[in-house]
Amino acid sequence: MNLLIFGPPGSGKGTQSALLVEKLGYLHISSGDLFRSAIKNQTALGLRAKTFIDKGELVPDQVTIDLVREVLEQNQSGKQFILDGFPRNIKQAEALNDLLKKLNLKIDKVLFLEVPRENLKRRLVGRRVCKNCGATYHVDTSPTKISGKCDRCGFEVIQRNDDKEDVIENRLNVYEASTEPLKDFYKRMGLFHSINGLGTEKEIFERIHLELKN
Ligand code: AP5
Ligand code: MG
Repeated sequence: MNLLIFGPPGSGKGTQSALLVEKLGYLHISSGDLFRSAIKNQTALGLRAKTFIDKGELVPDQVTIDLVREVLEQNQSGKQFILDGFPRNIKQAEALNDLLKKLNLKIDKVLFLEVPRENLKRRLVGRRVCKNCGATYHVDTSPTKISGKCDRCGFEVIQRNDDKEDVIENRLNVYEASTEPLKDFYKRMGLFHSINGLGTEKEIFERIHLELKN
């Protein structure tokens, strides 16, 4: 079963995708992670994407669509995948439909993580990520065991550039204007499933797991 997980910034897409990878063997395709890796490697694509990401703006559609196309085409083994952070607007969603058709693939369920705006800011401001392996923490709700060091690999954990308060505000606005309309898009396709995104990470994973069995 191929999945698409979407929801506002900080709703827990990355956290729940990591659990789906660990517990159910999914391939995680996150457009945000792909961009961050390109930035880390200082590729031309990364340097271009950074100018948008640091402001909380969307990276231009064609660049993003080409990037995801490449990853989907490389998944020759046909491993079940979870798309996180893509599509981000109707144009990307239509491009994804065309691409899936060409590759003879389909999305079986679209999972929407529902979290009110007032909770999102707190989650984002307190988020810390490992510089090396990308593991995600939160200073209050899921801190590292040793302050500033990743539990998994021991590298330094840092704050994402776009997790600064003014950028967060813009990301939330961009989400509401561009990405929220995808709810109706996927309702019309009969794929939309809303998941309550409040509670512990484990509780939310159990809700997702239940939804996958239905
Ligand atoms: P991206 O990396 O996709 O960021 P995002 O959508 O803003 O989402 P986040 O990664 O911030 O949040 P999340 O939902 O993954 O939450 P997480 O699990 O980490 O995109 C970044 C940028 O790249 C975009 O702004 C754009 O510029 C560009 N981009 C990406 N895709 C693009 C596209 N398709 N088109 C154009 N541009 C694109 O959790 C957040 C925090 O909450 C963590 O600290 C976590 O520990 C904590 N937490 C998780 N679950 C819980 C819980 N249940 N209770 C309490 N805290 C929790
Ligand atoms: Mg994420």
